[in-house]
Amino acid sequence: MSKAVSIWVDSHRQRLLDELFELIRIPSVSTLPEHVPDVARAAAFTADKLRAAGLENVEIIPTDGHPLVYADWLHAPGKPTVLCYGHYDVQPPDPLDLWVSPPFEPELRNGNIYARGAVDDKGQFYMHVKAIEALFAVHGKLPVNVKVLIEGEEEIGGKSISKFVPLNKAKLAADVALVSDTALYAEGLPTLCIGLRGLVYMEIVAQGPSRDLHSGLYGGAAPNAVYGIIELLSKFKDADGRILVPGIYDDVVDPAPEELASWQSLPFSEAAMLRDEVGAASLTGEPDRSVLERVWSRPTMEVHGIAGGFTGAGAKTVIPATATAKVSFRLVPNQKPEAVVAAVKAFVEAHSPKGVVCTVNVLSHGPGLLVNPNHPAIEVAAAAFAEMMGRPTVFTRSGGSIPIVGEFHEQLGIPTILMGLGLPDDGLHSPNEKFKLANYYLGIETVAHFLEMYGD
Ligand code: BES
Ligand code: MN
Ligand code: MN
Repeated sequence: MSKAVSIWVDSHRQRLLDELFELIRIPSVSTLPEHVPDVARAAAFTADKLRAAGLENVEIIPTDGHPLVYADWLHAPGKPTVLCYGHYDVQPPDPLDLWVSPPFEPELRNGNIYARGAVDDKGQFYMHVKAIEALFAVHGKLPVNVKVLIEGEEEIGGKSISKFVPLNKAKLAADVALVSDTALYAEGLPTLCIGLRGLVYMEIVAQGPSRDLHSGLYGGAAPNAVYGIIELLSKFKDADGRILVPGIYDDVVDPAPEELASWQSLPFSEAAMLRDEVGAASLTGEPDRSVLERVWSRPTMEVHGIAGGFTGAGAKTVIPATATAKVSFRLVPNQKPEAVVAAVKAFVEAHSPKGVVCTVNVLSHGPGLLVNPNHPAIEVAAAAFAEMMGRPTVFTRSGGSIPIVGEFHEQLGIPTILMGLGLPDDGLHSPNEKFKLANYYLGIETVAHFLEMYGD
């Protein structure tokens, strides 16, 4: 590995941290309209730092939603081109009262940066920016051609980038994409993620009576929208977590026996997962599937929230006219989002309770993804990671989704290296999200090392 990059990182530790803190302090919550100016500030900050790192053609590209940030450096003739991707937007920080320190005031405690976006994805995409800066600083040039594309809508489904990519295939042409937005399988274990689930996110709106009604005068005869949506939702899965929507498993491809065997050799403790990550009385789901299979290679349906009726203090006797549920389906590779949407719509129509009209609005959808671990670029990444951490790299999947990665494959025809340095208990999307500071520095060195090795 490059001693020079390592020395550079060492001698810039404080500045590398200060800059990341500055980025984290910008509350770029993409889903909340009141944060639009903050999201724009995060885009501008990102563009400035890409320019300062030494990249050229830096652009803030307006979209119908939040801007994209692009930059490149294409002066390594004969060398491959790497497309670095990340997202500068973050999830909302609520519930605020559970944070030990304020979500947008990063705090260093026991070796971790605590803040919203620390690991997802500001701390991680910023590793790319700083790796590029380090390489320019020590070599005066980059070992490969580099294009950088950072979006501000990943946490809300990535609509704008998915319009942009197919219209800009030549601009984005590359040999491989590099994304740091995933986690190590375990502390100290170099990990490349080779599978992501896709996601179909929808809102189901139930309409019962035309207005809220007195529950004494009409109860027993009038339909109730909140109870109606509960009845409908309860039909989606059986007690073992199997989804009951006809056709939903049609395109599911089980992992090959070798891949399943490799998962069995990963260190895994259900008790530790329960205690350190989930914090419930027990895990749930398909009893005939291992926990890793359930979250990595099986579809799932989740309810994120139900709104409707009276939820204030005290009591109000009312039959609610409307109710809304936020629902999503995680898809595994080879499942088609459009087919899932159609199957769910038919299911909702068939199972809407009497007197309640249920409509489905799809908010976003993206396919799952599987990367070929034998692709030469993945092999170089695995070797670089292994050298940095002194152990062989493991290949895992993740149950999470990064919508645009599927389109890098479909539209640009390139594989993606998912080289993330988060940890399983980082609490992304949760209160007290964290990023291990040592992994931030290690990530900068690892990304730089990969680019150097890939250039050779
Ligand atoms: N970085 C995560 C996804 C992730 C985390 C993948 C850990 C693998 C390991 C990403 O920012 C995310 O949260 N994605 C959303 C996508 C959705 C909002 C469209 C998700 O998975 O819910
Ligand atoms: Mn992310
Ligand atoms: Mn996220």
